[in-house]
Amino acid sequence: MRIDKLISESGIASRKEAARVARAGGVIVDGKAVKDLSTHIDPEKCRVVYLGREIVYRRFTYVMLNKPEGYVSATDDKSLPYVTELLPDELRKMELFPVGRLDKDTTGLMILTNNGQLAHSLLSPKHHVEKEYFFTAAEPLCDGAEKQFESGVTLADGYECKSAVLSLSDDRMSGKITLTEGKYHQIKRMIAAMGNRVTSLERISFGSIPLDCSLGRGEWRYLSDREISILEKQG
Ligand code: URA
Repeated sequence: MRIDKLISESGIASRKEAARVARAGGVIVDGKAVKDLSTHIDPEKCRVVYLGREIVYRRFTYVMLNKPEGYVSATDDKSLPYVTELLPDELRKMELFPVGRLDKDTTGLMILTNNGQLAHSLLSPKHHVEKEYFFTAAEPLCDGAEKQFESGVTLADGYECKSAVLSLSDDRMSGKITLTEGKYHQIKRMIAAMGNRVTSLERISFGSIPLDCSLGRGEWRYLSDREISILEKQG
């Protein structure tokens, strides 16, 4: 693997920035400064230190994206544009896919990876990974909505949702919902089951990883080592 690829995929610096740092002697491979980052190394065997920080090689790539409205995340949805179009070419080549879907009009936190096994396990109902959403509704939610969410909302098709947490704003027209499952249009259908309608929906956390509020809509960054270990523990 090229050294500049290893550095850029670790999220520590772009290839361009790394080239500048390498010219100034800031990239050390197995104890020696390397100026030419197109050099190929075995990332599992070599120790690469970038400006004093050791780079931990990961077989898989993990990205956090702040999804804007108008992008689809379901791989079987043939409509466009697809969320991965928001990523640069080098990431698109890696065939990352979203861990859990968001509707075309839903915004917010989306994690993409090429670690299929971890993604699958994070989405398994067995693991109860919590997903938190902020929503607004067309009308104030009815009295007792919090209790209904807690005991499990019954959807129009008869499906009984697992217990979920609803916390409402003072006017009861917006709030947060925490789910441990992810059925098709689940929140929209839960709110519809109460005779109401979702007017906006944003995912604000996934398995105790919050959406990084420094990311604008459509922006992305690599997950940090800490965030990756949180996911690994939950999956
Ligand atoms: N629930 C929905 O209704 N839509 C989403 O995108 C996510 C959860």
